[in-house]
Amino acid sequence: MNNIILIGFMGAGKTTLGSLLAQRLGVRFLDTDQYIEAQQKRTISSMFEQEGEAYFRRLETELLQTLADSGQPAVISVGGGLPVQRVNHALLRRLGTAVYLKAEEGTLVERLQNSKNRPLLQGDSLEERIAKLMAERESVYEEIADYIIHTDNKTLAEVLEEAACIFE
Ligand code: S3P
Repeated sequence: MNNIILIGFMGAGKTTLGSLLAQRLGVRFLDTDQYIEAQQKRTISSMFEQEGEAYFRRLETELLQTLADSGQPAVISVGGGLPVQRVNHALLRRLGTAVYLKAEEGTLVERLQNSKNRPLLQGDSLEERIAKLMAERESVYEEIADYIIHTDNKTLAEVLEEAACIFE
């Protein structure tokens, strides 16, 4: 299926860019976090707190399965942890073309400074949390990516232009 899937770390700009890219290409936009929150009628933080992370990860995989079996082409932005689950790899491949929005750790730390709704980043030392997760994840993002867009020191308009050029 020819969807465009935006992957990358929290704070990479997947949701913002995804919605603009979908508008530009005239296709539907879906964000997996937003979809799951609407479906569950509560926040991701409350799912992590009440049922634990594994529950949320199951919902992500179920959603990917549903999307892989249906629908018109879309731009789909996925939560930063979704590609890390090996079980999701074949589903992502089936869904379409993956674009990795890459950002350096320093950029992410800056962008995520005030993030209150991401359970994996709460507590002390944001820098250490980001560094640890990036060390685990970066190679996976690169492995899955069909395209990589570097977002550091670029405006949203510039990143949008680069992404649109791939698909227009
Ligand atoms: C997560 C990223 C979040 C959200 C959840 C877990 C992660 O999405 O799915 O808080 O494991 O990286 P964003 O990447 O859209 O912030």
